[in-house]
Amino acid sequence: MIILGFESSCDETGVAAVSTQRGLLAHALHSQIAMHQEYGGVVPELASRDHIRRVLPLAAEVLRKAGLSFADLDAVAYTAGPGLAGALLVGASVAQAFAWARGLPAIPIHHLEGHLLSPLLSEPRPEFPFIALLVSGGHTQLMRVGGVGDYELLGETLDDAAGEAFDKTAKLLGLGYPGGPALSRLAEQGDPARYKLPRPMLHSGDLDFSFSGLKTAVLTRSKSLQAEPGGMSEQARADLAAGTEAAIVDVLAGKALAALKQTGLNRLVVAGGVGANRHLRRRLEQALQARGGRVYFPPLELCTDNGAMIAFAAALRVQAGLADLSGTGHAFTVHP
Ligand code: KG4
Ligand code: ZN
Repeated sequence: MIILGFESSCDETGVAAVSTQRGLLAHALHSQIAMHQEYGGVVPELASRDHIRRVLPLAAEVLRKAGLSFADLDAVAYTAGPGLAGALLVGASVAQAFAWARGLPAIPIHHLEGHLLSPLLSEPRPEFPFIALLVSGGHTQLMRVGGVGDYELLGETLDDAAGEAFDKTAKLLGLGYPGGPALSRLAEQGDPARYKLPRPMLHSGDLDFSFSGLKTAVLTRSKSLQAEPGGMSEQARADLAAGTEAAIVDVLAGKALAALKQTGLNRLVVAGGVGANRHLRRRLEQALQARGGRVYFPPLELCTDNGAMIAFAAALRVQAGLADLSGTGHAFTVHP
């Protein structure tokens, strides 16, 4: 079965073709980062309009790259949520239009399920069950994944997501959007131990997270540094960035390891945009190696939002008998 998948939940338009037998056939992506940069964050209306401009050319590109025609498709898939309402509607409407035109089933996919299963797109594939650490701009969750469609939430953030913590502290330090990569780059020149920052809830005994206190601590510290004669030096900014990154990585790694201990599992999957963070990757690789376990990441270019993870999650749902393939003609909804 060949599935064409659409992702448009936020600031990336992604389209991909996946075969249930042969895996990923082709994918194409347009990132709106440059467009939103001057506003310091995603502007929802601009995002929706840009998805409209990009989605059909991207779909044509994917079909061309995969050597497919419209007639070769057996199903379509789309991100049904969570995300920006107007943005979600673009991918969902286009997918449904394709489906209605050819009488194909249209498979709605939860955005986080896409991220969660994306490490299975590359070798070595983790076997079920595993623990998933889902760290994106909107979510921070630890999950026990027993199989496709079998997800148990073990803990999640009570306030900001890990990506949000990166983005907001980056903004405080005068860095651009998206903050994660920018803060991480600045942190390379910094000393993570110079400023003591909190590791919220690291020892709370449960698997929940909280990052808003860290943001406040960085705000307080940067204000006092700015008030010094000469203002905040470049070195102080880099040190604060390094301290912030170290605090976020400490909490994420500490809780992920606690989840492995609690469940007796030894396989960890990391997904979502923050999974691109090099410090987090290194830390978890070392920790899992020390335990005789293994950590799995999606390929770097598939860490952030993309169409491949949506088409792929749909393919796995089809294989698991969890997709409704009864056809089209029913109304569709998105879940912002
Ligand atoms: O999964 P994603 O592309 O979109 C959502 O579904 O939210 O994640 C985006 C988030 C942003 O907060 C961004 O700052 C963060 O991932 N991010 C990073 C890195 N690359 C992206 N955070 C830390 N280090 C990175 N290298
Ligand atoms: Zn995402």
